Amino acid sequence: MTTTLVTGASGTLGTALVPRLIEDGHDVRPASRRARTGWVRADLRTGEGLADAVRGADVIVHLASSPRNPGGIDVSGTRRLVAAIRGAAGSATGWAEREAAGSATSWAEHEAAGSATSWAERETGDSATGWAEQGAAGSATGRRERETGGSAVSRTERESARSAFSRPERDETGSAVDRANGDATGRAEAERGLPRGGSGQDGSDEVGNGHDKGGQGEVRHLVYVSIIGVDRVPLRYYRAKLAAEEIVRRSGTPYTILRVSQFHPFAVGLLEKSARLGPLIIDPGFLAQPVDVADVADRIAGLLGEGPANGTLDFAGPQIMNLDEAATTWLAAKADHRRVVRLRAPGKVARAIRAGGLTTTATPTGSRTWEDYLAARY
Ligand SMILES: NC(=O)c1ccc[n+]([C@@H]2O[C@H](COP(=O)([O-])OP(=O)(O)OC[C@H]3O[C@@H](n4cnc5c(N)ncnc54)[C@H](OP(=O)(O)O)[C@@H]3O)[C@@H](O)[C@H]2O)c1
Repeated sequence: MTTTLVTGASGTLGTALVPRLIEDGHDVRPASRRARTGWVRADLRTGEGLADAVRGADVIVHLASSPRNPGGIDVSGTRRLVAAIRGAAGSATGWAEREAAGSATSWAEHEAAGSATSWAERETGDSATGWAEQGAAGSATGRRERETGGSAVSRTERESARSAFSRPERDETGSAVDRANGDATGRAEAERGLPRGGSGQDGSDEVGNGHDKGGQGEVRHLVYVSIIGVDRVPLRYYRAKLAAEEIVRRSGTPYTILRVSQFHPFAVGLLEKSARLGPLIIDPGFLAQPVDVADVADRIAGLLGEGPANGTLDFAGPQIMNLDEAATTWLAAKADHRRVVRLRAPGKVARAIRAGGLTTTATPTGSRTWEDYLAARY
């Protein structure tokens, strides 16, 4: 029987994945920072419990993540996990452990270390990011008023939107956005065609990267769940996920990176935040492709059956929608007649999202639609 460690097992995806894997006959070892009967306790921030969690695992599905502390959990935590895998294989002096022990030097850690002020942390704190904040721009106030017939988006709304939206601008990197039209499908499909079971097949050549290839772990397959657009939408959290992907690629453990689009409940959460001031404030040109969590769990179960891709795959919902459609359907599903304020948001993050940075044409896709999800939820 395959022993499968699932980090982040208590989260939205983990909650769907654990029973799915049990159904497939895995001996699932769910991990959490909290003590729970039948679970292992492990903290990616401190490394506590990781060695025990990893020992004897054949497969690891790494879901744990923290948008509040992406440097500490997604980047350093992934590095600690990789070190634990190597430790379990007996290579106590491997690259990953040295990295995990000493290195405060990577950009992501550096950024996350001092950054009580980082955008991602602030954004995911009390005033978490909504589609509204992506869509509402201070500079668009005049247009907004014209579009809403001069009627009154309040000063509070304008100021909230303006201050929220100014934040991502400070974190942007032009280069990421320049690739907004890059063909993720091509990448995913090309990679899907690659032979499985090798290493470094997605261009992350291990040789010459300072990577110690010795001490390959006993873990046969490490699956890392990332987000579609981490390479195209210049958000700080996404940059951390991209850095974590690279740690997985260079880990020496056979792996699959699965980039997934926004989960249905997460998309609803963003819409709720976008409506927190009363009217629903959106950029109607944003493109989204929300996916059902059960479909993601199925896809991961399938990938475990296939074995390591040693590459990066995309997985998203069945429909690419603009935010206008998504928002209108959401309001209709809950018979909510609130006003919708439509804005074109400025900035590189918004541009990347309008250009489809959060979407993919990769197949297969999930099967459950946004409408199906909303009908069941409301
Ligand atoms: N949400 C989305 O729409 C979406 C879309 C695409 C990809 N993803 C990716 O999918 C993965 C799962 O997302 P999700 O929404 O299911 O996550 P989630 O509900 O936010 O859960 C996060 C999990 O991370 C664990 N965690 C946080 N800090 C930890 C630490 N220091 N040590 C160990 N575990 C820690 C938590 O476990 P405990 O609290 O039990 O310790 C929790 O189970 C993430 O990698 C995310 O980036 C999410």
